[in-house]
Amino acid sequence: MAHRWKNDLTWDDVTPEAAYLNRRQIMAGAMGLGLASVLPKAAKAETPEPNSWEDITSYNNFYEFGTGKSDPAKYAGSLITEGWEVVIDGMVDKPGTYKMDDIMAAMTIEERIYRFRCVEAWSMVIPWNGFELKDLLEMAGVQAEGKYVAFETANRPDQMPGLAYPVLDWPYVEGLRMDEAMHPLTMMATGIYGRDIPNQNGAPMRLVVPWKYGFKSIKSIVRITVTDQEPPTSWNKANGREYGFYSNVNPQVDHPRWSQASERVIGSGLFAKRQPTLMFNGYEEEVAGLYEGMDLSKFY
Ligand code: MTE
Repeated sequence: MAHRWKNDLTWDDVTPEAAYLNRRQIMAGAMGLGLASVLPKAAKAETPEPNSWEDITSYNNFYEFGTGKSDPAKYAGSLITEGWEVVIDGMVDKPGTYKMDDIMAAMTIEERIYRFRCVEAWSMVIPWNGFELKDLLEMAGVQAEGKYVAFETANRPDQMPGLAYPVLDWPYVEGLRMDEAMHPLTMMATGIYGRDIPNQNGAPMRLVVPWKYGFKSIKSIVRITVTDQEPPTSWNKANGREYGFYSNVNPQVDHPRWSQASERVIGSGLFAKRQPTLMFNGYEEEVAGLYEGMDLSKFY
């Protein structure tokens, strides 16, 4: 299990929570002196300042709680995650309503440090806890006709004030092709920094697909459906010209209104550092093979 995936980010890349308060002074000094250039690997040198608990949990996109970056941290407390259930249905051997507690008991929880790249051209480095989506799908038993996996977020107007605004066609939905869903890098996150995942980050379970733009990582999932049709996705429905089904991080394919060639590193303080964006967010070696022969400017 331990070697089903490969990673170049370690705890050295993550800002210790305790260091957060000193972070701005320390990093402003260290990065100014070019500390990053002595780091061994190119990919690491480009990830000089990882992210604190504070960054990860206070600068969010979760439109069910408002469209401002600080809205989810302010309002997501109202989401009730106790007794959470997830429907797994469609082309599976064991369709049904699964209790989150039973899923947690059945899965192997591990920690993975992934770079997270938002389509808005910012990035963070996040220490997730969770399990491989593949293991959950195998528990339900994917049938041979299943070619895609569709995901749906909770739709609870009484607990999610943002649902009162028609900014997206609710509920939030996402999808993956089966080989993407089964890839060992694809995980269901249930924690960050070794703690339960906060509501604003998608409690109790959210998707993380590290080679894709952040909006693919649908939060607070209540339904997973195996299907033979490419599923609709919220951002594609909202604006198909700007957001495709695949949404692979690709520095060569710009968003129609801004470049994807570089990214602003959240938490880099006074210097507001930018770094070049890597193909497939740095996971090219692991995932490029999934898209062999596809024109990635057409399938964006
Ligand atoms: N999931 C739901 N249900 N609603 C959302 O608005 N926003 C997406 C994604 N998942 C979103 C969502 C976007 S645009 C991004 S960039 C990431 O969540 C942000 O994840 P984070 O807040 O944990 O960094």
